[in-house]
Formats: sequence, C-alpha cells, structure tokens
Amino acid sequence: MIPLSPNLRTRLAPPLKLGSVSLSSRVLQAPLSGVTDLVFRRLVRKYAPDSMMYTEMVNATGLHYVGELPKLMELDPHEKPVSIQLFDCRPDFLAEAAQRAVEEGADTVDINMGCPVNKITKNGGGSSLLRQPDVAAAIVATVVKSVDVPVTVKTRIGWTEQEITILDFARRMEDAGAQMITVHARTRAQGYNGSARWEWIARVKEILSIPVIANGDIFSVSAAVECLEMTGADGVMCSRGTLGYPFLVGEIDHFLKTGEPLPKPTPVECLQCARNHLEMLWAYKGERGVRQARKHMTWYCKGFPGAAELRGQLAVIETVMDGFRVLDQAIDHLSGNNLLTTHR
Ligand SMILES: Cc1cc2nc3c(=O)[nH]c(=O)nc-3n(C[C@H](O)[C@H](O)[C@H](O)COP(=O)(O)O)c2cc1C
Repeated sequence: MIPLSPNLRTRLAPPLKLGSVSLSSRVLQAPLSGVTDLVFRRLVRKYAPDSMMYTEMVNATGLHYVGELPKLMELDPHEKPVSIQLFDCRPDFLAEAAQRAVEEGADTVDINMGCPVNKITKNGGGSSLLRQPDVAAAIVATVVKSVDVPVTVKTRIGWTEQEITILDFARRMEDAGAQMITVHARTRAQGYNGSARWEWIARVKEILSIPVIANGDIFSVSAAVECLEMTGADGVMCSRGTLGYPFLVGEIDHFLKTGEPLPKPTPVECLQCARNHLEMLWAYKGERGVRQARKHMTWYCKGFPGAAELRGQLAVIETVMDGFRVLDQAIDHLSGNNLLTTHR
C-alpha cells in the first residue's frame, strides 16, 4: 500500500465544494449503466456513507416523450449525496429532464459526454459531444439556467488519439457554468481498453478552477493515491473496480481520511454481500431482478478455490431460491475450509 503523504492528506481534508453542494468524501461512485441502480447504490453507501453516487444514465428524449418517470431515476427517500446522470444532445429536453431529476431529489445533475456506444453517439449524445463543443456548451448553459442545483459533466479526453481535445473542451464546460468535471482519461476510440492516461487529468486540473475528478483505472486504494498525487485532482471516481466489490469506494475514502487501510473482506464476507445483493434486487425488481443479479453474482466470485465453478452456477440461476442455495453451499464450504483470509 502506498502511504498517504501528509501533503495529500492536508490537501484533501476540506470538503469538496461544487457550487452549493459540499461533499465530505473525495471518492465518488461512477454512473454505470445496468449496475448503479438504487440497490447497488445502497450497498456501496453502506461502506461509503459520505460518497456521491450516480444513477445509471437516463435518456432525456425518452423522458420527454414517455413522460413516465423511469425506474432508473428512482432515488431512495433521503438518499444523499446523489446525482442523476442524463444523456442527450437536445438542450431543451435535457433542461426538462434536469428539472425532473431535481424534483426527484438529485443533489446535482450530471451530463454524460463520454459514453462511447454507437447507439448513443450516432444520435449526438455521449462522447460525440466532444466533437460538438458548441452544442455541449449550449447544453450546460441551458441546464444551468433551468435548475438550482450544480450541473456537472463527465467526459473523456478526446475522440481519438489524433483528436485529444479535453483541454479546450473542459475550459468551455467551465465557462458555460459546469460546477465540476469528471475526466475519464481515455479517448472514445479506446473504449475501455488500454491504460487510463492520467497525465491528461493533471493538465486539465492545471487550467480549471472548478473541481476536477479523476476517473479510469481506479481499481485499488493504491491506484487512487497514486492518481491523486500525480494529477492533483480533487477526487477520484471508481467504476469497474466496484463490480462485485461494493467495498472499494469506502476503502479508499477511509484511507484518505485516516491513512489506515481497512481490512479486506474475506471470500465468505464477499459471498454474504453477494447474497444480500441478490435478495435486495429480488425484493426491488422481482424475477427480473434475479436475471439482472446473475452478472453481479458472477462478479463476486474471484480469487478463491472453486470461484470459476461457482461463477458458472450463478450465471444460470432462474429463481432467487436457486441463487440462495448455490451461495449458501459455497459459503458453508468456504467457512468449513476456514478460508477466512483475504483474497485481493
Ligand atoms: C458496465 C459499464 C457501464 C457504464 N455506464 C456508464 C454510464 O451510465 N454513464 C457514464 O458516464 N459512464 C458509464 N460508464 C463508464 C464508467 O463510469 C467509467 O468512466 C469507465 O468505466 C472508466 O473507469 P474504469 O477504468 O475505472 O472502469 C460505464 C462503464 C461500464 C464498464
């Protein structure tokens, strides 16, 4: 574990301020489509009560035409701090969706300007906004005018290696009124491949006054510390590192606040968490929740004897009872084997 330098600890001790919102954690849980529903956020928040969580991204045009509030926007009563993430390229629809988000209780509204998926970019949303900075700036300015909570942007460093435009883009977002920017340090062309290029985050941080959040490859406490040291960023956002591991945000937050690492959960504790996750998804979404739970369940199975076989069994569960049976057997087996050591 990289030690926490006194300089970093002092720099990160004050609350993170974005406009009217003040966060007492510098570690954020990323928006993850198909993952960060209300249930997942509840689990992460159990270990990281102060951290900002994001909903899955919500289509503003869809909301305009359908009218009915999608389950994606549902927040726990009193859930805080939480941001609803929106995507689209229409400033007016985004403004309308932002107002709905605030009515639902969002503390901030985040605009997705980083999604690489063709279905989104071909309609002008997500990372394609990197290539339309005028539209992106108009979106931010319009949404800022329509709500009284901070409006933030999450984006990438550019479209391709030949088109890394983040410096100009980030400045334009700040000028348009964004109160924070999260930079996923990959290009759109990279997708999720290759290493995140944190050096670009450092360059963004040098030129902006609003908080800059570093995103990409924050898979451990050490990575978070290294990234914060290297970039000077105001905080980090965890993404794939939380899949099957809802402890990560809390682990980093605890370390940044105390300089002490938390003990790692044992394999048995991880599987108990998986069981809890399954039960909560089932209670919230019924049988559809069980189907959605399959992928989560497989993500929890890593780094202990029999993990691959268990993944295979959990990938095909049909009912919540199937899932409980498979997980309980594995928990009994691991407890019997006294595998109470850490596995990461
Ligand atoms: C399954 C999955 C779903 C994602 N959904 C969203 C999303 O809804 N909104 C968003 O801004 N980014 C989304 N992302 C991108 C992540 O938030 C993050 O920027 C990216 O994974 C880089 O961080 P990492 O290297 O730590 O995973 C998604 C990524 C994954 C893997």
